[in-house]
Order: sequence, then structure tokens, then C-alpha cells
Amino acid sequence: MNSFEEKSKYIMNTYNRFPIILEKGDGMYVYDENGKKYIDFAAGIAVNSLGYNNKKLTDAIKNQSEKLLHCSNLYWTKPQLELSEKLVKLGDFDKVFFCNSGAEAIESALKICRKYGSESERYEIITMKHSFHGRTFGAVTATGQPHYQEGLGELLPNIKYAEFNNFESVKNLVNEKTCGIIIEPIQGEGGIIPAKKEFLQNLRELCDKNDIMLIFDEVQCGVGRLGTFFAYQRFGVVPDAAAMAKGIAGGVPMGVFIAKEKLAKSFKPGDHASTFGGNPLAAAAANAVVDELKNGLIDNAYNVGEYLGNALKSLKSKFSSIIDVRGVGLMYGIELDKPAAPIIARAIENGLLLVGAGKNVIRFVPPLIVSENDVDIAISILENSL
Ligand SMILES: Cc1ncc(COP(=O)(O)O)c(C=O)c1O
Repeated sequence: MNSFEEKSKYIMNTYNRFPIILEKGDGMYVYDENGKKYIDFAAGIAVNSLGYNNKKLTDAIKNQSEKLLHCSNLYWTKPQLELSEKLVKLGDFDKVFFCNSGAEAIESALKICRKYGSESERYEIITMKHSFHGRTFGAVTATGQPHYQEGLGELLPNIKYAEFNNFESVKNLVNEKTCGIIIEPIQGEGGIIPAKKEFLQNLRELCDKNDIMLIFDEVQCGVGRLGTFFAYQRFGVVPDAAAMAKGIAGGVPMGVFIAKEKLAKSFKPGDHASTFGGNPLAAAAANAVVDELKNGLIDNAYNVGEYLGNALKSLKSKFSSIIDVRGVGLMYGIELDKPAAPIIARAIENGLLLVGAGKNVIRFVPPLIVSENDVDIAISILENSL
């Protein structure tokens, strides 16, 4: 048995991990147990929005941990109250529900849509093929990729799958039982596929006409990553609600479901809950992240995102193995004519952390602190790894 197999034998075998043990990070860099340095364009899968060892974030966590870590949602806490106000004021929504992960934010979406629809006995929800919404039973049913659902037996009823970016396909699935549509503005795990603006506009109109709730899954593309706080703001189409998680608390687990009053009021006391959701530690971290984002990092994501997109496009002109470059802001993918995994493994050996999205796509979702110089460094490592 090699040392990894020996050390990891008590952990369930659910991940294909790279053979490194990470120990610490600073700014855009992480370091493994042997002190080897990696520039990070994976950010813990689009999570570490402020990079590593950000003083405002670590101070917020330290200070809150000495005051009150947790107290449940039987009581109010200042960090949660403060955060809810900040999030509402950043967009077009009215009310927030706090949970702990992206999948839980999606569960909140599924439940509230059906509660909303129950007044007129409408329980059907439409999601997209090639989408990804998480691994809990509801979220994995909403996920339009059958391989995530294999071996699970019967899934959640009343979920239908439409073709992404194909309005007719969505329209054909709408009937008198439809209560919600859930869609990622940019499909992440499905291969970094941005929605067409016109498609989202058409969905908005369709939902308005039929009293259907339009919900954006912004778990991966939200929280400043696209150069606007909410992803929908970059597309100019306002949904009835959004699910967020990943980057919101900079690495401390948190999920957020945020909705307009019309939908939010479908949850009454006792309808939905989470023991840890929005606890003071996570909320203090999220407050620090949101403050930092407002303080220039959202604009940085916009500007460096443009630079990253251009750099990847010029890489495509040099390498015939790159067949497409897609993305918005700091969420980009390059599609290869071959599997991405060996190239990602080589990049990691060469000191660059990347993550795949589907079989042939390499994804770039760096921390929002990334600079043009960091992009140059990453591109040159990638060039040597292709
Ligand atoms: C768009 C999207 N929704 C939901 C999820 C699930 O989030 P979590 O892993 O925090 O449950 C993910 C995770 O990758 C995601 O990318």
C-alpha cells in the first residue's frame, strides 16, 4: 500500500483526489506538506473568493469565534441580521433563508416552489439537461445528468428536463402543473456553458405569463464571480429567487436562498429550517467577504475576467487541441479534443491548480483577488502542460 492509500483508508471512497496534501495558503497560492507552491485557479471549486489568509476574513472569524460560534435559529444574532440586509440591498430580492451548502439552497428552492404551487395544485418543476444542482436527493433529481442518478432507484417525482438554451424545449414542457423553472445562468459542472441572454429573457416572459417561479442557481457563478454581485445582473434578467453558496463565506460553509416577497411568503414558521444555517461564525465570515467584494473585488473580477478570456482565446489560436473557449467574468472553460484529466494532473505537477468540468473541459475559477500577472503565470504553466 502506498502512503496515501494507508493514510486515507478510513475515508469513504467518493472522490478521485490528486495525490497531494495541502497544508496552508496565502493570497493566490497554496502550499503542500512538502512546501511545494501552487498558484490556484480552482479556488476549492469556486469557493475561496478572497484567496487565502485574507486578514479581514481571518480576523472576522477569529473575533466571532471568541464571542459566539453558534446559538441556533431560536434566537437572533447581529452577524445574520447584518448579512441579510446587505444581501437584500445588493439585488432585487426581499428575503433570505440561510443554510449550509449549495445543495441545501437548491432543496430550499424545490420546497418553496412546490409550496407556492400548492395553492393551485401545481407541483412540476423544470430543470435543464446537463445541469448540476448538487447531491442531496432533490438536488440530484434536479440535476439533468443521468450518470449522477444511477443506482438510486426512484427519484423525486415531478421534475422534467429541458434543453439548455432552447426556448421551445422549455415551452413544450410547461403545462397547468408547472410551478418553477430552475436554471444555472452558466452551466458549471456541465462544461462551462453560458446561457444566451435571449433565452433567459424568453424564460422570464414565459414565467410571468404562467405564474411560474424562475429560480437561478448561482451557487457557482454568483457572489461577484461574473463581475456583478449576482450573476443575473450580468445577464440583465431578474429571477424570482437565487440559490447561492460556495464563495459567499470565503471557505466557511454557507448556503443562501434569496427570494422576492411573492415567493418568500410561501414559507411559514416551521416549513423549513436548518440547525446551523446562517450561524454567527458563518455569517461573520460572509459579512467580511461581501464587504471585501464591494470594496473593488467585483470590478476586479470583471476586468481580470476579460483579460483571462482574451488570454485563453489567444492560447486557442496556438493549440489545435483547444476546440472552444467559453465563459464570463472569472468563470471560464476551455474545451479540448481529448480528456482534460491528464492535462490537469500535469498542470498540478507544474504548480498550477485547475479543475475539470465534464470530461473534456478545463475550468478556470480563480479567487476574485486574481491579477493580470497571476493570469500570465497560470497561462504559461498551462502552455507547458498542454
Ligand atoms: C451550480 C451548482 N449548484 C449546486 C451545487 C451544489 O453545491 P454543494 O456542493 O455546496 O452542495 C454546485 C456544486 O458544484 C453547483 O456548481
